[in-house]
Amino acid sequence: MYIASDIPAILRHTREVTFLESRQMAVVTAGGVQFSDLDGAPVNHTTVHIDWNPTAAEKGAYRHFMQKEIFEQGRSLTDTLRSRLDFTNHAVMLESLQLPPARARSLEKVTIVACGTSYYAGLVGKYYLERLARLPVEVDYASEFRYRSPIVRPDHLVVAISQSGETVDTLAALEEARDQGAVTAAIVNVVGSQAARVTDGHIYMQAGPEIGVASTKAFTASVTDLFLLALYLGQCRGLLDPETRATLIRDLTTLPGLAGELLDRAAHGTRYHDLAERFHTYHNFLYLGRGINYPVAREGALKLKEISYIHAEGYPAGEMKHGPIALVDASMPTVVIAPRDHVYDKMISQIEQVKARGGLVLAVANEDDEIIRTKADFVLPIPPINELLTPILAVMPLQIFAYEMAVRRGADVDQPRNLAKSVTVE
Ligand code: AGP
Repeated sequence: MYIASDIPAILRHTREVTFLESRQMAVVTAGGVQFSDLDGAPVNHTTVHIDWNPTAAEKGAYRHFMQKEIFEQGRSLTDTLRSRLDFTNHAVMLESLQLPPARARSLEKVTIVACGTSYYAGLVGKYYLERLARLPVEVDYASEFRYRSPIVRPDHLVVAISQSGETVDTLAALEEARDQGAVTAAIVNVVGSQAARVTDGHIYMQAGPEIGVASTKAFTASVTDLFLLALYLGQCRGLLDPETRATLIRDLTTLPGLAGELLDRAAHGTRYHDLAERFHTYHNFLYLGRGINYPVAREGALKLKEISYIHAEGYPAGEMKHGPIALVDASMPTVVIAPRDHVYDKMISQIEQVKARGGLVLAVANEDDEIIRTKADFVLPIPPINELLTPILAVMPLQIFAYEMAVRRGADVDQPRNLAKSVTVE
């Protein structure tokens, strides 16, 4: 019998795992284990088979877990999509969600609750669900939702996003939603974690173990799962004709390959290493994005601050004139996410405004974009893809930049100071 706080610690010894629920205990003896509640009354328990391979939870040839988890996103995205796309009917299959089409059609609102990186993934999900499923979406920090006496009804779907499935604020928000009769779901990476067990249904990220405290592949996996959820709800609600679904599914299937190309080019060049050499002494960064890439600006800023300890803020680009532009000068570089989408021209003028005030600009942009090279000081290239899917690619240069900056500054990349991989206490 093995007792551990997390699966990777015992994966080499066993794949059969039983999770303790809240307010339960287990008495382990040489003869086996007895499960009971805190009053000693026996409780039922289920054993989960963990199909991760033990090496998945090891660094291998990489210097840090975070580095490995960034550069394996081509494969993790393939796994996230595995067995969820029906190419014959151009449909999405999400059996584990336990949300039949009739129930999906009765929904009037979606609320997403999460923390940190998972919250920023939820902000992307809002664009997906409102665009593809035409449902109003509210995205809230779980730590705020749980204390706000939120208005939740039985025709609301409350979706928790959590890599660990054990974040205390997110679990408490789910409890609040459940108490008010909402349909609950979890987008979660750790198999059998509490968030997967206390909800009506779940979508596993299927990204494999994420060990680095800074979340990377779980972000791209949860954004992909939110896209699948929006596609599924749109098809249940009869809003997406087969041709539209076929196009979106086709674009989705190009994602792992494009991610792999982006990551391979980054791994075999010195662009990010050189940028870290140039910028590792700066103390403040501004990250700007618009529309569906505004949440990516927030996530990119979080990556930099949590592992390199450099202050960084993510902002919607349109907000610059309402305050942040006062900060811009040569000592405060601005990272801009500017793929060729429907707000591209706005982002170009944003870059010009920053440059006019003496600011340095690093732009995440399409690799074939000749204009941006004449505007920005540095370009972080991504391949073109359906506008809705750009967040999943655009975040990768920001993950790599943050990683290289932390390494150049000698920070503890996998276990940054003051942080834990899973925040299980308030
Ligand atoms: C992200 O890099 C951080 N480690 C942190 O913000 C994290 O996303 C947050 O604590 C939520 O964790 P969860 O996804 O496991 O719920």
